[in-house]
Parts: sequence; structure tokens; C-alpha cells
Amino acid sequence: MTDTSDILFRPHRMGAVTLLNRVAMAPMTRSRAAQPGDVPTELTAAYYAQRAGAGVIVSEGTQVSRVGQGYAFTPGIYSPEQTAGWKTVTDAVHARGGRIYAQLWHVGRVSHPLLHGAQPVAPSAVNGGGQAAFVVDDKGPRMEPSPVPRALSTDEVRAVVQEFAQAARNAKAAGFDGVELHGANGYLIEQFLRAESNRRTDAYGGNLENRLRFLAEVTEAVAGVFGADRVGVRISPFLPLNGIGAEEDAAELFLAVAKMLDGLGVAYLHTSEASPMEVPPGTDPVPQDFRSALRQAFRGTIMVAGGYDGARARAILETGLADVVAFGRPYISNPDLAERLARDLPWADADRSTFYGGGEQGYTDYPAHADAAE
Ligand SMILES: Cc1cc2nc3c(=O)[nH]c(=O)nc-3n(C[C@H](O)[C@H](O)[C@H](O)COP(=O)(O)O)c2cc1C
Repeated sequence: MTDTSDILFRPHRMGAVTLLNRVAMAPMTRSRAAQPGDVPTELTAAYYAQRAGAGVIVSEGTQVSRVGQGYAFTPGIYSPEQTAGWKTVTDAVHARGGRIYAQLWHVGRVSHPLLHGAQPVAPSAVNGGGQAAFVVDDKGPRMEPSPVPRALSTDEVRAVVQEFAQAARNAKAAGFDGVELHGANGYLIEQFLRAESNRRTDAYGGNLENRLRFLAEVTEAVAGVFGADRVGVRISPFLPLNGIGAEEDAAELFLAVAKMLDGLGVAYLHTSEASPMEVPPGTDPVPQDFRSALRQAFRGTIMVAGGYDGARARAILETGLADVVAFGRPYISNPDLAERLARDLPWADADRSTFYGGGEQGYTDYPAHADAAE
């Protein structure tokens, strides 16, 4: 029996959808799509179905176009085959009573021609440094530094917005409950938001309002397909990754993002935080005043992720500054994580060597806890 006095297991209304608990599975790239074509497989369906006890699953990043791919073997959501593959995934999750959102992804400059034959695209021809794509060719699989990207023309920016819209239509046809835009971790959407990577002089660059425009248009486009109440956006204001630095006033920028998304009626905002292991002891990876200001700026659901365990998750929910906690690595090795949290059962450790690529090993072969059998 689940203890409903446990704040993690109180149902929560997230936009149009009622979640049965506040435990989310964070989006995680696992690089196991079938080749050629980057198609999700039956194995992918089995993996997500095992994790259907989460209040909501956010899928691994799934690219909206070929040039939007930054890592070999990640699944796409632009072809009929990919859409059909995802349908087997959502059917399997729904059959187990779960819910699943598709994380729509365009990596922008964090890419390489070896993946798709084209020069990577970005708001501006700026290479942030420290960014690399995962490629595979006759020299073998490896991380390859990304070249300087090509700046998208204004018409091309509008075309990318349409690629997101088409991806949302495909996600709907594939049976997803909603979509999450990957606006975090230094990929295309964040490249538009940050002044350091966006040096444009058209309507998509320059002042803050212009830098928000791409995300606003993408959000409106996918909301036109699903309804804004089935759309979430992931951000990572204080997590410098993939060539994005931290020199800007991230709080000001992302509070403006939150207000803009609030105005569009978006269901949830998902903050990807540094894990506590990555910041000095005793420091919150996100400034407390930012958490409060975010709550003021955004009326929808706030989801957080990054180094949470049961105690930290319950603590942040108790503060009222978050509504749902997403777990990443713990979900890799504990398919029944929600059950373990509910019953305070121990967690298995994840094997890092099988995070990306391969088959069943380290993917579908982590068992449920022996004491948690249904
Ligand atoms: C193997 C792996 C793949 C990931 N892939 C993605 C991804 O596709 N999209 C994304 O937004 N975050 C991705 N992340 C970040 C996670 O969603 C999460 O924010 C991070 O793991 C911190 O949470 P945790 O401490 O609970 O693992 C990934 C993390 C891991 C470990």
C-alpha cells in the first residue's frame, strides 16, 4: 500500500493531465535507436514500460530533424518509421498505466557533419568551445569537437519552428501524452536565449525580447498541436554545458523566459539543476531567491531534476517551490523507483559504462526490487 500522506505520492494536476505521483523519470539519452533511420525499437518500449510507475516519464531527447542530431544512435521523431517506433513505446507505457511526454530536441551547434553530412546550424556562427558530438565512422565511435556552425537565415529559423511543429504532430500521432521542449543544456533553444551564442541582428537576436522569440514561436507551434496544457519546457539556468558559459545574468534571463511561458499557458517548467555533488558543500545548486522568483513568475507546475534522493525530493516539495521531482540516473538502475521511494527500499547503483549505446545490458536487465514484486 502506498502511504498517501507521503508528499511524493500525492496526485498532482499538471496542465491537462493528473499525475498519480510526483516522481518523474528525467529525460535520458540511451543511444540505442535502430539503424539506419534512428528508430525506437521494441527494446525501447520494454525499457520505458518497466518504468511506467513514474507519475510521468519524459523520453530521451528525440531530434526533430537530421541536422538537429548531435549524437549517434539517438532516436528521431521526423520520419514515419520513427513515429511508428514511438507508437510501440507509448502503447507499452499506457498499457502499464503510465504517462509519457516526448522531449523534442535540436542540438544546434553541438553537432558534426559526420552525423548527417551538413555543417551544423545555430543562431550565429559562434563556437562556444568545449562542445562535441558523438560520431561513429571507420575510425570508430568517439566524441568529435564540433566545428564552427553556420548561422541560420531568418527564413531558416522559421523553418526550424515548423520542424518542431511537425515533430509535435508526429508525437501526437505516436500517442505521447504531451511534449517537453529541450531548452536546456546548451542546445539550440538555449543558444537562441543566451546573448553569448546569439549575436543576431534580426528579430531573433539582440535584446532580450528578441532572444526569447524563437522559444516563444516554437512553444506556440507545439501548443497549436497539443494544447499548451500538454507542453513543458526544460531549462538549465545555472548549469554551464556544451559551450554555454555562465557569464550572463542567468536569473534575469530565465525569469523572463518563465514569464513568457506563463503567458502562453505552458503546463510545466522543468529546471535541470547541477547535482549537489557538483557544487560546494552546503550550497544550493540553484539560488533560493531564484526558486522563489520562479514560483512567482510561473503559475504552472515546476519540475526539478539533478541529484535528488527521497529526502531531498520530499524537502523541496514541502517548501512549495517545486511540484514534481524528476530522477535521472536512479531510474536507469531502478525501474521500480517510485515503488522503492514509496516503501523506502534500497536503490541499486547504475553502471555508467552502459549508459550510452549497446543492447539489453544496463538497459532492460535491471530487476525490480525482490520485495516490490506485484
Ligand atoms: C545517461 C544520461 C542521459 C541524459 N540525457 C538527457 C537528455 O536526453 N535530455 C535532457 O534534458 N537531459 C538528459 N540528461 C540529464 C538528466 O535528465 C538529469 O537532469 C541528470 O541526470 C541529473 O539528474 P540525476 O542526478 O537524477 O541523474 C541525461 C543524463 C544522463 C545520466
